[in-house]
Amino acid sequence: MTVHFIGAGPGAPDLITVRGQNLVQRCPVCLYAGSLVPREIVALCPQGARVIDTAPLDLDAITAEFVAAHQAGHDVARLHSGDLSVWSAMGEQIRRLEAHGIDYTVTPGVPSFAAAAAALKRELTLPEVAQTLVLTRTPGRASSMPPRETLAAYAATGATLAIHLSIHAIDEVAAALQPHYGADGPVAVVVRASWPEQRILRGTLSTIAAMVRDEAIERTALILVGPSLAAQDFRDSALYNVNYDRRFRRSAEDGRVRD
Ligand SMILES: C[S@@+](CC[C@H](N)C(=O)[O-])C[C@H]1O[C@@H](n2cnc3c(N)ncnc32)[C@H](O)[C@@H]1O
Repeated sequence: MTVHFIGAGPGAPDLITVRGQNLVQRCPVCLYAGSLVPREIVALCPQGARVIDTAPLDLDAITAEFVAAHQAGHDVARLHSGDLSVWSAMGEQIRRLEAHGIDYTVTPGVPSFAAAAAALKRELTLPEVAQTLVLTRTPGRASSMPPRETLAAYAATGATLAIHLSIHAIDEVAAALQPHYGADGPVAVVVRASWPEQRILRGTLSTIAAMVRDEAIERTALILVGPSLAAQDFRDSALYNVNYDRRFRRSAEDGRVRD
């Protein structure tokens, strides 16, 4: 018996991986994390499966489901939105499984930042503009931040920021970032990326908060900030440069092959 943690992807049902879909289709128990896991994916569970929305459950109740499935010899598909490596609460569930001696696997999913970048049709690391993407958040009611993990610290590098779980704090986010990216610093807010109701707001650090308020956006949105969102005159990457002598690739200029 195994618990399979599966990243369900950002919302569009066809953005789950083939491996994840196969697991959902064959597990007799499915636990899914609330409304951000699309209904179409939950509907892939086999007939007669025990299917549970864990949104109203606490960790003890979720663990009890794992233990009951373990005792019955039933594999479990455990679905979380996006990918499991960020803000999935997988860590604490794994700790409980290990305490109970229950096996588990992890199948990655498309994270929401990737779906948001796709919706914007932007690369977030452009040559000499930004070479780092920071996945971060601001503190929530129940989650404080480690003291050195501040927006100002990340913004000081000029990297592209993908700010999760923070749309309710857009005023504070914009104010904290303006000293680093400027009042004209480009911002995009992507709401429910890849869902049918996806929305995109493009603005600057001085305009975005009012736009978010006007559209009454309160949840399930990513705030992307940084020059990579608007840059047009960035240089080409070396990767496809005709004179760039890559390993195993013949340079068009001198015909050498290096190993
Ligand atoms: C609990 S976290 C889950 C993150 C998820 N594990 C991932 O890989 O993206 C929820 C936050 O992720 C972001 N998010 C999740 N799905 C999203 C989507 N489809 N579009 C925009 N933002 C999304 C929002 O910032 C939301 O508040």
